[in-house]
Amino acid sequence: MNVHDRPDDAPGPETNADLVLNDTKTQLPVRAGTLGPNVVDVSRLYRDTGCFTYDPGFTSTANCVSRITYIDGDHGTLLYRGYPIDQLADHSNFLEVCHLLLYGDLPTKDAANTFRHTITRHTMLHEQMTRFFTGFRRDAHPMAIMVGVVGALSAFYHDSTDISDPEQRAVASHRMIAKMPTIAAMTYKYSLGQPFIYPRNDFDYTANFLQMCFAIPCEPYLGNPVMTKALDRIFILHADHEQNASTSTVRLAGSSGANPFACVAAGIACLWGPAHGGANEAALNMLAEIGSVDRIPEFIAKAKDKNSGFRLMGFGHRVYKNYDPRAKVMQQTCHEVLDTIGTRNEPLLEVAMELERIALQDEYFIEKKLYPNIDFYSGITLRAMGFPVSMFTVLFAVARTVGWIAQWKEMIEDPEQRIGRPRQLYMGATERQFVPMDERV
Ligand code: CMC
Repeated sequence: MNVHDRPDDAPGPETNADLVLNDTKTQLPVRAGTLGPNVVDVSRLYRDTGCFTYDPGFTSTANCVSRITYIDGDHGTLLYRGYPIDQLADHSNFLEVCHLLLYGDLPTKDAANTFRHTITRHTMLHEQMTRFFTGFRRDAHPMAIMVGVVGALSAFYHDSTDISDPEQRAVASHRMIAKMPTIAAMTYKYSLGQPFIYPRNDFDYTANFLQMCFAIPCEPYLGNPVMTKALDRIFILHADHEQNASTSTVRLAGSSGANPFACVAAGIACLWGPAHGGANEAALNMLAEIGSVDRIPEFIAKAKDKNSGFRLMGFGHRVYKNYDPRAKVMQQTCHEVLDTIGTRNEPLLEVAMELERIALQDEYFIEKKLYPNIDFYSGITLRAMGFPVSMFTVLFAVARTVGWIAQWKEMIEDPEQRIGRPRQLYMGATERQFVPMDERV
């Protein structure tokens, strides 16, 4: 694997932590980042002590050094390469954010034009890939199709699967950012039984995606700038989120040297789960099930009852123990979209706002620091824009692709990178002898 020099500013050991195990003291280096909590480096713990650490769900474990995204969950802060998410959502655009995440800086005017040109030259899919879709049932979940088709990209673009070649890594990255909207729109068109709409390189990234979803060959597509801006902002909000489950999946898959298309397909599979990318679909379904404001107390009570197995979808986050900064932008975008299309009195918005108000005053949610997350308002917004519920996670995948790719690239270029191989606390049977079948009781 091609490994670049370690950057000069890479954090090194700062202090040590003492660990006393069976009367033996071991010193563990404590490393400081540029922001956020220090980390105790336990990478030599097994070698030095014969012990593993135990941390199901990685709640206290940093798996890598990263320079891409920073979250301060207690203060509700999210930075991409140092820039606050609300500033990017207000002043930037998705393609510029892609450049920022991939290369570390906002592009100059020339770099932005070059990047846009590069991406738009990769928006089409190999024509033979369009025939893949007909192998799926029309009622297949679009995420099932996404996993299959994105994984299959590696069968069509061999010339960008050699991960030791920086040139091939760059081409694979551009291809994925460019082709993901095309694949996503095709899954939608396929479910409707409508012809696929080819990309338009004279449109911006997000406008092109909307026309691939909503244009039909027999009529011109009339886009709406408010919708385009709203979706572009939704893409920005979802572009990266440091070491979340799907990103960690991409890194883990990539750590074995798997090709980037296969790694992103693994990320899509992980994103599909209702605790992750599927949450906005689940949140919208929940709001529809609640149906009216007078039923909210019943659902709040159910969410607080451990035996019910029910959670308020769109509430809570592993990292944010304060208002999710993306949720604030999302709420504002939701209002803008509903105002524009004249459904300001969408009944589910009324339910959502009242549910949020009641939950934020409730002792259970206050004590557990459960605030609305990005998924709480995104479902209502996307539905108002004309997307069916089954497409919500697909849109998340389109946006998150750049984050996955930026993190994958960073991992490949990290000299500390090794194959990901967690250990375990074994609680199964101790060694025993094989018993032939006729002697088993
Ligand atoms: N409704 C009711 N109770 C909840 C909820 C909720 N939505 N979320 C957490 N809790 C309770 C949970 O029962 C637990 O209580 P206790 O301490 O008494 O056992 C406590 O809060 C801590 O929960 P946890 O499951 O240990 O926290 P976690 O960090 O493992 O889970 C989460 C985070 C997002 C999976 C969880 O909050 C959840 O299931 N939320 C609903 C699904 C959702 O909206 N997911 C979208 C996440 S944001 C999108 C993204 O970034 O991918």
